[in-house]
Amino acid sequence: MKKKIVALTGAGISAESGLATFRGSDGLWEGHRIEDVATPEAWARNPELVLEFYNQRRAAARAAQPNAGHLALAALEQDFEVVIVTQNVDDLHERAGSSRVIHLHGQLFESRSSYFEQLVYPMASDRIELGDLCEKGHQLRPNIVWFGEAVPLMERAVQEAATADFFLVVGTSLQVYPAAGLVDFVRPGTPIYIIDPSRPPVASRPDLHFITEPGTTGVPKVAAELMRTAS
Ligand code: OAD
Repeated sequence: MKKKIVALTGAGISAESGLATFRGSDGLWEGHRIEDVATPEAWARNPELVLEFYNQRRAAARAAQPNAGHLALAALEQDFEVVIVTQNVDDLHERAGSSRVIHLHGQLFESRSSYFEQLVYPMASDRIELGDLCEKGHQLRPNIVWFGEAVPLMERAVQEAATADFFLVVGTSLQVYPAAGLVDFVRPGTPIYIIDPSRPPVASRPDLHFITEPGTTGVPKVAAELMRTAS
């Protein structure tokens, strides 16, 4: 039976594809404070701004290409069972070829009813406008988990983390919970590889490996090492 790799990824893995991370040096996300664009309060206050913000993120994601980090994770499926747990809302893991991707914080290319959470739709176009409605007549919003909202896929992600044989953490500052807490569910003795040019806070434990470099070089290195163990 193939061994299981679970990779928790964040904005850093898409940085070299040209998509901005959240906690850059200016503290802003593409010129906005996160609380002005990614919270239920922002949506209640100014839905037009929120829709436009995500319309722009969608256009940027559409124009971006998966990089060597995404591709190396996808290639691991040759030798391993691989589950990607991503905080990213872009589709670069899927476009790189990863077949099992859990989007903890939702997906840019889906819309959902602002009233009935379970009414989720693939995007008909790359934009959601004010006046676009769900089948029950309520405004559509991005299918994104905003700050202060529940993370419905967390339980599934925990199950995956708890059954991993190898755990990778790529390009996340581990500042946002519950996602950041996933590492705590990894079984003792499981090798953990952290690939990030700056070290995120992870409690010291045996078999913890820091690869302090960008995803495009760090992930292929770790992938090559794991593939050697598989053969
Ligand atoms: P952050 O912006 O907080 O962290 C990005 C991480 O990527 C940092 O640790 C950087 O050091 C690292 N990084 C930068 N360039 C990199 C590269 N080339 N290769 C690898 N790593 C690199 O992003 P997240 O941790 O993903 O939530 O943020 C978590 C959540 O906060 C997001 O999902 C989003 C945000 O607000 C929502 O939108 C709900």
